[in-house]
Amino acid sequence: MKVINIIGAGLAGLSAALTLAEKGIHTRLISRQPSERAQSVLAEGGINAALDTMGEDDTRDLHFEETMRGGAYLADPVAVKALTDGAPGIVERLAAAGVPFSRNPDGSLMLRSFGGQKKKRTAFAQSSTGKMIMTALIDAVRRYEAAGLVERLPHHTMIRLLITDGVCAGVRVRDDYGGRLYDCAGAVIAACGGLNGFFPGVTTGTSDNSGMAAAVLFMQGVKLANLEMIQYHPTTVGIPGKRCLVSEAARGEGGRLFSEKDGVRSYFMEERYPTLKNLMPRDVVSREMYSELRGGAKTFLDMTGIPGETWEHKLSDLREEIIHYLSLDPAAEPVPVEPGIHYFMGGIHVNARHETNLRGLYAAGECACIYHGANRLGGNSVLGALFGGMTAAQSVYEYRSRPRMTDAVFSGHDQLDCEPSDAFSASLGYMLREGLGIVRNDSGIRTALESVQMLGYENEAERAKKALAEAMLYSALGRMESRGAHYREDFPETFEGFRGTTAAQFRDERVRITFEAVGQGE
Ligand code: FUM
Repeated sequence: MKVINIIGAGLAGLSAALTLAEKGIHTRLISRQPSERAQSVLAEGGINAALDTMGEDDTRDLHFEETMRGGAYLADPVAVKALTDGAPGIVERLAAAGVPFSRNPDGSLMLRSFGGQKKKRTAFAQSSTGKMIMTALIDAVRRYEAAGLVERLPHHTMIRLLITDGVCAGVRVRDDYGGRLYDCAGAVIAACGGLNGFFPGVTTGTSDNSGMAAAVLFMQGVKLANLEMIQYHPTTVGIPGKRCLVSEAARGEGGRLFSEKDGVRSYFMEERYPTLKNLMPRDVVSREMYSELRGGAKTFLDMTGIPGETWEHKLSDLREEIIHYLSLDPAAEPVPVEPGIHYFMGGIHVNARHETNLRGLYAAGECACIYHGANRLGGNSVLGALFGGMTAAQSVYEYRSRPRMTDAVFSGHDQLDCEPSDAFSASLGYMLREGLGIVRNDSGIRTALESVQMLGYENEAERAKKALAEAMLYSALGRMESRGAHYREDFPETFEGFRGTTAAQFRDERVRITFEAVGQGE
């Protein structure tokens, strides 16, 4: 019996498992944390789909165009077209599966405004959309667990891929409680989340998403892409150990950004961008906030004008969260906010079928680089994770019927069965932050790169992490333009010649960066 291994049990992993189970295919869901604690649970604002239930003449084509534009034309258009065309069906299926989306009085799905989009297109369940979708998917997968089609291995860490004759034939895992190492034969779908662990303590995501799986794959020859594209979410608040997200939904429902200096208040987004105002794409908003902060102002989100009914029906959990963490009622007074690292557009390079450069290995969700180009639109990540999981599953299903698939089982000592120390990760994170801020320049990136190169390592996990960090910095150094989330003050223009993918590979013991046409990888 062939089993497909899925690394990660968040939205993308569950979506892949469900798709395969519906076809009668067995999967193993291998994850450091159980699904209930996956990063996906924290997704707040919603999921985009051109359902056009708000009388605004929204279309799938417009969703496609805005996703491409928002991503500064670095996303694969074939993949994005499939994503935006598939979105309404996905949301309707979720609603049918019991996700408690907010509804209009006529019973149709209510949609809210999100950044970078001219139409209301984001379906939501208050501001706990991720939690609600995860609850429904966990329940749906449970049925297949009972039928023996899905096996869960929570508290297991991927150690490395098993590669025979240039084909991914399985994965070596460690039981984190028992310490035992063992091998799981079969194709692999990586759905292991973003690179939060490279920036410990300063992302809105959990550092349980360590990024180590991507680092290990990198060392094994898997191609990564667009690693310089790191999204800063404009409205975050520092809390112990991480940054707390104040959902873009707050601005979608009328929240207004302002800066204050010497007692003077400026609603800078409204003044500078009269059309989309506070809902410009995140890269633009974060840069404007950065410039206000650099000028010595403080930045705030003013939600005091949001009507009581909206708080009650659309944002009650957001309000509770802010009261809980800040002891401040956002309905009564402005919240001090600053941009924080939120999402990694770059990651494992996949084509529109979610195939990587290694046969038998697929990737989906935040760990994959495919739909979001240089800047992701809010509400497209939940969609991308679900659609990506389905697409990867379909590809692996088709691949199964092809020859060369092996069920061989490997075993033995493994040098990657180790973790980076907290001190190493903290030093590396500090260096990366210095080089990969909202505004970058040659000297800052080079200084960070030199520091990373001089950083000693004590085990193979640290070496892998260091190599991936170098790849991020080399990617940022090589892109001598500004595009999306990558803003170079020494190259503030966007150049047509740079409309391409920064590809990173570890070969002959070195990080190598090349520049490829968008969508290459067929
Ligand atoms: O602001 C938010 O609710 C974030 C949503 C997203 O990143 O998609």
